[in-house]
Amino acid sequence: MGRRIVVTGVAGFVGSNLAKHLLDRGYAVVGLDDLSAGTFENVDERVEFHQADIRDSKIYPLLNGVDAVFHLAAKSSLTDCLAQPLEAAQVNTVGTLNMLEASRQARVRKFVYADTSAEYEGITEFPTREATVCPIGVYAASKHGGAAFCESYRRLYGMNITVLRYFNVFGPAQDWRRVIPPVMCSFIVRMLSGERPVIYGTGEKRRDFIYVDDVNDLHMAVLENPASEGKVLNAGTGANLSVNEVYRLVEEQLQTGLAPLYKPDLPGEAEITLADITESKKIGWSPQMDVREGLRRSICYLREHVLKQEAVSRHRASSDRRFASTGSGSAD
Ligand SMILES: NC(=O)c1ccc[n+]([C@@H]2O[C@H](COP(=O)([O-])OP(=O)(O)OC[C@H]3O[C@@H](n4cnc5c(N)ncnc54)[C@H](O)[C@@H]3O)[C@@H](O)[C@H]2O)c1
Repeated sequence: MGRRIVVTGVAGFVGSNLAKHLLDRGYAVVGLDDLSAGTFENVDERVEFHQADIRDSKIYPLLNGVDAVFHLAAKSSLTDCLAQPLEAAQVNTVGTLNMLEASRQARVRKFVYADTSAEYEGITEFPTREATVCPIGVYAASKHGGAAFCESYRRLYGMNITVLRYFNVFGPAQDWRRVIPPVMCSFIVRMLSGERPVIYGTGEKRRDFIYVDDVNDLHMAVLENPASEGKVLNAGTGANLSVNEVYRLVEEQLQTGLAPLYKPDLPGEAEITLADITESKKIGWSPQMDVREGLRRSICYLREHVLKQEAVSRHRASSDRRFASTGSGSAD
């Protein structure tokens, strides 16, 4: 395998972590993102960055001379997908098709698609194997559309494609700015700010949480091991935690004394996710991160990045107010 890799969604949570991981291992990374959800500050300065939409024909020349594509760009918020189903399908399904077609024309040697455990929404077999899916929500259906085109291109053109079904990935650079952020960073940010964490429903829903470095390692295994060709692989740990247990683990580290605030359940979320990782282990990978240590690192990141930034913006806002109150307004 050569050394020039495209990462789409490079300004997002998983994409930015993956890009750093690849760069640290000597790969050259071409990063694509339209910055609709991700932020430029997430992008490592060593990335050759292109602000581009994965649906655009302008991306085609960027794939020349590329050895592998990790296709992570997506509309990834469930609530946004519900609110804008056509946009979700256009980005997650048609955008994936455009990346596949561009990769086929450029003869890219490996294509890796970031699929989701939401594909298993209607499945009640736990731990869940890769063989059967039952997407229900708009997000799941739109990602399923992307996976269906991966399978189509694999069969039609013999492309070397691997589909990774991520479970709940957590770690640094997770998108804490969302209206409803992912549960771990939501708890951490609120509790560090002295606010009670919000739990939707009873808190007994269970999720298979996987630390982002373990997902990075799985990407590397997929890149390096030819046995991954044509496979669909679960990216989970094979263990799960309830939302209430997550709260207790965060509280164990932060010692805030803040009790959770329970709000009505959010519609369309699975009760349980739990990965069967037998197939993923066959390519020489297994998750390594202890959840407490993963949380500790996430807390460090959020302390450093979020709270410092908030303090700066609060300071700026109060300076702006002081400026305005002096009556020295701008000339326009
Ligand atoms: N984070 C998880 O727990 C998780 C779980 C399952 C699957 N996934 C999948 O993994 C991938 C990465 O997830 P994430 O958590 O990093 O999401 P994210 O939202 O942080 O990153 C996605 C990135 O894609 C970019 N993007 C969106 N539309 C685009 C477009 N039209 N053109 C170019 N860029 C566009 C966004 O700006 C963002 O930076 C997604 O495909 C998601 O569906 C993530």
